[in-house]
Amino acid sequence: MNDFHYKQNTLFCEGVKISDIVSETGTPVYIYSKNAILSRFNDLRTAFQEVDTTICFSVKSNSNLSICKVLADAGSGFDVVSGGELFRALKAGGKPSKIVFAGVGKTDKEIRYALENDIFMFNAESIAEIEHINAVAGKMKKTAKVALRINPDIDAKTHAKTTTGKKENKFGIDLTVAETIIEKSKTYKNVNICGLHVHLGSPIYSVDPYVNALKKITVFIQKCRKAGMNIQYLNIGGGYCISYTGEEVIKPKDYSAKILPFVKEMQCQVITEPGRFIVGNSGILVTSVIYNKQNSHGKKFVICDAAMNDLLRPALYDAFHRIWPVKTNITMSDTETPGTGEVKKGMEVVDIVGPVCESSDVFAKDRAIPQVDEGDLLAIFSAGAYGFAMSSSYNSRPRPCEILVDKDKYFVIRKRETYEDLIAGEGLL
Ligand code: LLP
Repeated sequence: MNDFHYKQNTLFCEGVKISDIVSETGTPVYIYSKNAILSRFNDLRTAFQEVDTTICFSVKSNSNLSICKVLADAGSGFDVVSGGELFRALKAGGKPSKIVFAGVGKTDKEIRYALENDIFMFNAESIAEIEHINAVAGKMKKTAKVALRINPDIDAKTHAKTTTGKKENKFGIDLTVAETIIEKSKTYKNVNICGLHVHLGSPIYSVDPYVNALKKITVFIQKCRKAGMNIQYLNIGGGYCISYTGEEVIKPKDYSAKILPFVKEMQCQVITEPGRFIVGNSGILVTSVIYNKQNSHGKKFVICDAAMNDLLRPALYDAFHRIWPVKTNITMSDTETPGTGEVKKGMEVVDIVGPVCESSDVFAKDRAIPQVDEGDLLAIFSAGAYGFAMSSSYNSRPRPCEILVDKDKYFVIRKRETYEDLIAGEGLL
């Protein structure tokens, strides 16, 4: 069963009524299902089980400590991109030997912190970075494991702002530069280049970009090995898609069926860094309607208490998120997905907006939803990935609280920020 489901037109997360949570916490509130998170994690594990695979949950998608702990307890490793994310992964109980560190701008301080904690490996994105890792590791008398992040110049056919594997993107090392690293690799006394990494973007709705990248990587790996480099790991990144609309999308097995033959041919251990796939559809954002408003041009606005500072994706990427009342009189058939259909009786077409002073503070434009009144609750679906993680306190709005549901119980896993939190760290001159 879907972990977020309507029973008699009332929304539940696992065994808990959303409105019961809201009575205690207020809104806006992020609510996650533990079962959904673990099911997705296990789906991926099963899809890649034929080969030795380390799943490294991408902390940037949802960095809440308790969410990371749920995954650490299930055996997940972590993909981090900053000292702060590494700190979180370790605090959550992540095993250092399963933590990979990506990012184009690691500082010496971050490199040292990672080496002090004996992480699994760095995904290095430039020659300059490898030289810094080598120097820092040298001073610490350690050897750093490194995977070269390859930029294969492949279009992942995703949003321009979230594509990472094209030649104009800042990410990774192109194959021509990577070849020069083969020659240099022996001069890096404190770096062991033992893997290759590729992450093409997010979300990717077809397996073709992965296949096209792997074709290039296979050729490159052979060159590395011929030159005596011992490449044991292939990190295929993340980017696995989820359904934001209720429509069927490709599944972990569809990816692994086409990816695994390359891995087997290359005889590598696999690392993969899913974020969205695990948490995206495992969380919702619940908001209250503050006002209904209509202008003389016939445009209707539902103004709610969540805003772009709480969930940035619609403003930043024009991302579609299903939105539907937590309780409604409109009955949906089993085949319908709430928040995606046509206007029916009792529904109207509105813009669903937040209170922030920006015209981009819009969750949905011209969206058909049941008529709502002040105080009604709306659920914004598929908000578990890059939701809270990208939130801010813009307009001096305290950030929402976060709740984790486990069967018929729920837990506050992050308290709502207060006005005092907003100014903590600021002093009056
Ligand atoms: N590995 C690397 C190196 C990454 O940069 C990312 C995401 C991932 C793994 C995880 O990708 P996922 O499995 O979650 O697709 N804020 C955007 C997404 C940005 C993704 C950044 N990198 C959004 O809300 O759609």
